[in-house]
Amino acid sequence: MDKNKLGLKFVIEHLEEEIGKWLYIEYKHASEIVGRENLMFTNVKGVEDRNLLSEFGEVEARSFRDVFRQDEVVILDPKAERKLVTSDFYGKKAVVIGGILGDNPPRGRTQRYLSNLCPKAVKRNLGRKQFSIDGAVYVAKMVSEGIPLEAIRVVDGLNIRVDEFVEIYLPYVYPLNDGKPVIHEELVKYLSSEDVVRDEEVLLKEENEEKGF
Ligand SMILES: C[S@@+](CC[C@H](N)C(=O)[O-])C[C@H]1O[C@@H](n2cnc3c(N)ncnc32)[C@H](O)[C@@H]1O
Repeated sequence: MDKNKLGLKFVIEHLEEEIGKWLYIEYKHASEIVGRENLMFTNVKGVEDRNLLSEFGEVEARSFRDVFRQDEVVILDPKAERKLVTSDFYGKKAVVIGGILGDNPPRGRTQRYLSNLCPKAVKRNLGRKQFSIDGAVYVAKMVSEGIPLEAIRVVDGLNIRVDEFVEIYLPYVYPLNDGKPVIHEELVKYLSSEDVVRDEEVLLKEENEEKGF
C-alpha cells in the first residue's frame, strides 16, 4: 500500500501491560486497514513485543511524545471537546490512538495517559461512544480521506454468537463497511472459542490478586 495522501502516520501508543490475543488481533487489523508503512507503534518497552509488532508497522520503545512534537499530532480521545474533521490533519504528521483495550464503563485512560500529558496537542473525539482500537483507526483513516464523521455509519453494540445457546455482547461502537461491522474475523473466531473464556479467567484472577482479593 502507498503512503496516504496527507503523509499521515497512524500511531498507536501501546499502553497495555501485555499483548494478549485480543489486542494482537486488533493491532494486526489496524495494520491491514492503513498498511504497514503508515502505522507506528510507540511506547513498546519489551524487546519481544517490539519484535512481535514489527510485522505490523514501525515500532518504537519511546512514547509518541518523544518521537513527535505536540503541535505535529492529533490525539483521538473520546473525552475531547471537539469532533474530528479532515482539516484537523492538515499540516500534522501523526494521528495518535491509544493502545488501550475497551473497558465498560470507559475509565478515561486516553485522557489520563495521552491528552493530559500533551497540553499543546490537538485532541478530537469520534463521538461519545467507545470504538475499538482498530475501529478508531478505520474511522480516522476515512476522515483523513475526506469523509465526514457523520457520514460513517456505525453499529452500537455487537452480538457474537458462540453456539446455539450462548452469545457474547461487545458494548462498543463499530464502523460499518458495506453494511458489515469492521471487526477482524479472527477476533470473532477467538471470541467464540473456549480460549477466550480461559484467557479472561486468567486475567480476572491476576487482577484480583493485584487487588489483594
Ligand atoms: C478502545 S478505546 C479505549 C478508550 C478508553 N477506555 C478510555 O476511556 O479512554 C482505544 C482508543 O481508540 C480511540 N477511540 C475510541 N473511541 C473513540 C472516540 N469515541 N473518540 C475518540 N477516540 C476514540 C482512542 O484513541 C482510544 O484510546
